[in-house]
Amino acid sequence: MKVLVIGGGGREHAIVWRLAQSRRVDKIYCCPGNAGIAELAECVDIRPTDFDGLMNLVRYEWIDLTIVGPEDPLAAGLADVFRKDGRKIFGPGASAARLESSKVFSKDFMRRYGIPTAEYKVFNSYIHAEDYVRLKGAPIVIKADGLAAGKGVFVAGTVDEACEAIRLIMKERAFGEAGDRVVVEECIGGEEASFMAFTDGKTFVPMVSSQDHKRIFDKDLGPNTGGMGAYSPAPVLTEEVERAVMEKVMKPFLHGVQAERMDFRGVIYAGLMIRADGSPMVLEFNCRFGDPETQAVLARLDSDFFEVALAVSEGKLGSLAERAPVAWRPDASVCVVLASGGYPGGYEKGKIVKGLEAAKKMKDVVVFHAGTGFDGENVVTAGGRVLGVTATGSDVRTAKARAYDAVAKISFEGMHYRNDIADRAVGRVVC
Ligand code: AMP
Ligand code: GLY
Repeated sequence: MKVLVIGGGGREHAIVWRLAQSRRVDKIYCCPGNAGIAELAECVDIRPTDFDGLMNLVRYEWIDLTIVGPEDPLAAGLADVFRKDGRKIFGPGASAARLESSKVFSKDFMRRYGIPTAEYKVFNSYIHAEDYVRLKGAPIVIKADGLAAGKGVFVAGTVDEACEAIRLIMKERAFGEAGDRVVVEECIGGEEASFMAFTDGKTFVPMVSSQDHKRIFDKDLGPNTGGMGAYSPAPVLTEEVERAVMEKVMKPFLHGVQAERMDFRGVIYAGLMIRADGSPMVLEFNCRFGDPETQAVLARLDSDFFEVALAVSEGKLGSLAERAPVAWRPDASVCVVLASGGYPGGYEKGKIVKGLEAAKKMKDVVVFHAGTGFDGENVVTAGGRVLGVTATGSDVRTAKARAYDAVAKISFEGMHYRNDIADRAVGRVVC
């Protein structure tokens, strides 16, 4: 079988890495890919939103299955275009992807189906939004409605900060059309966790839990990033909390998908806040694999990823799960992201990455590439998040030590990373 993976980050490298281990996969293509993916797949320089280019590749190379990594092509309807042409694709159609591409749609969906989420109000006028913020007081959360590359959410500690966020989104149009409307939302406390599940719209199969580290610096300080590291499992998602997630989030989610006849074949990712009493609330839905959570989660997958992705794309997840339940390793995993100097602000590219071979030789370690390229001689940096050094171990402590041992072998000018990935889990009882 031939498989195309769309995207070029650490998440896509983890997907390609798993596909390459399947006995049923003969060839992998990746658009556009990166220097690490190029070792396992043929990278073709087609942008994820160039639908014609992608479709031509699939037709001419007789590709059997396409797996979509990032949200933009899904929101723009890539899965619909492919399905109309009779192609198998892993990823929801545009109407389902609105659960991620419109915060307003997503919040209204949660309200319609009784999914626990923070109280909110929607505004299309900045004056009314500001008035409401002054009435409610701080802390308060401001969210641009549309896709904003993870930068459209502001957790404001003061009313002034909240008003500043509204001005940035609605007046300065920092995110363009994505800021036509804002969601003003109650700020809720608790511990965050990422919960992903495979779904074909008829049934869902949960993945193991994970936790992201969104801030750039240790101790969750500094600005938000795409994610500086992840680990799995997340101890906050105890068996009891997971049961609550199934009952209060996943079942109503699936009911809503069916009631609204959405074509949802892919991954549903709920960004959760687990309150002190163990009750889950949904902060956001994403309609794709998380990055870097996927690196930590797929490191623990025991089943054949291709089989699962194919069943999802064919709407046959239920029969696969009956025949061969999706299995996970009991180990823990930790992924540490190595970033370019200056990230998440401006950064330089083209820095030579050293020590990759030594790190790759380590047992139970995989170095996933994100923003990397090849200059003809060396692997060089080509993005903000450069590598996701991922290790497994019998528990989080062991996996963490192994991941940081591997990190110590790698260097490039300006490289920086968090030293405290998985510290929240270390020292707690991990089930
Ligand atoms: P989102 O993209 O909606 O997940 O928001 C990005 C980040 O903002 C989340 O990971 C949380 O850290 C924070 N956040 C979002 N909504 C809330 C909320 N209602 N209360 C507290 N923090 C929030
Ligand atoms: N790690 C956060 C995300 O993938 O949205």
